[in-house]
Amino acid sequence: MNELLRTELLGMKLATPILAASGTFGFGEEFEDFVDLKRLGGVMVKCITLKPRRGNDGVRIAETPAGMLNAIGLENPGVEKFLSDILPRIKDRTNVIVNISGSGVEDYGELAGLLDVDGVAAIELNISCPNVKDGGIIFGTDERQAALVTAAAKRSTSKPVIVKLSPNVTDITKIARAVESAGADALSLINTLMGMQINIHTRRPVLGNVTGGLSGGAIKPVAVRMVWQTAQAVNIPIIGMGGIQSAADAAEFFLAGAKAVAVGTANFVDPSITMKIADDLATYLCGAGLKNIGELVGKVAV
Ligand SMILES: Cc1cc2nc3c(=O)[nH]c(=O)nc-3n(C[C@H](O)[C@H](O)[C@H](O)COP(=O)(O)O)c2cc1C
Repeated sequence: MNELLRTELLGMKLATPILAASGTFGFGEEFEDFVDLKRLGGVMVKCITLKPRRGNDGVRIAETPAGMLNAIGLENPGVEKFLSDILPRIKDRTNVIVNISGSGVEDYGELAGLLDVDGVAAIELNISCPNVKDGGIIFGTDERQAALVTAAAKRSTSKPVIVKLSPNVTDITKIARAVESAGADALSLINTLMGMQINIHTRRPVLGNVTGGLSGGAIKPVAVRMVWQTAQAVNIPIIGMGGIQSAADAAEFFLAGAKAVAVGTANFVDPSITMKIADDLATYLCGAGLKNIGELVGKVAV
């Protein structure tokens, strides 16, 4: 089992190539009754901003066929509290990848600098949040802005910088190439797809924020397609995510070219799902006669 799944990413040693996606796994410690954090590749913690944020008012989550809509609004304790209270508790338990968001290019630089500390394995730039007015989607849909944000973070930190791409674009490979040229060490994709749900009785939007991000099984084919396209366009590693609920789902992402994967919405359905996915993936690799997960990466025959 160990050798089948063990891999390396950006200098991090991963026990398995299964990570937890930002915003769906808290800071990792909340899941310790269900998950052996040492068997996860890492935890991409809930988005951190310079100042604490209360998040959006009203309804923040709605169920949809094969997925969910969310508009949390980047609720988080702020970077200061994260560094003083939370990081010391979690830093030795797993690879901590800190997801950050800002309302200006400078915010990303400042946050990346503040997080250049022991215990942070990598920084993930959330340039793709669709749920707050100043939450970054502009950076994720504009090549120039995406490159500026990436360069600002790279200048400020010695940690690997992962840029999280938005699927809410016409051609994701253009943004991917722009951030690779600006120095990104890896990409993660995809974030949520913008969606909306209306209550036909009240005739009002279900979410307080009106629109929200669609995640879960419904978006998996879109995510696999985008990982496949992006893998052919860049030379940096890709962390694939979007609707992964089983080892078979994860295997599709590896075949499409992802070096690691992250599980998001499925954690709400079964908090121990990442462990099951790891076990079943090992069984699949064994059955396919493979010795290590790396042998699957990018092997889709098109
Ligand atoms: C409730 C919720 C909160 C999220 N918060 C964040 C966040 O803070 N930062 C971020 O980059 N992505 C966030 N995401 C996006 C996920 O990390 C992931 O990219 C997306 O949901 C697709 O994966 P999934 O279908 O497995 O959930 C959030 C998703 C959900 C469902």
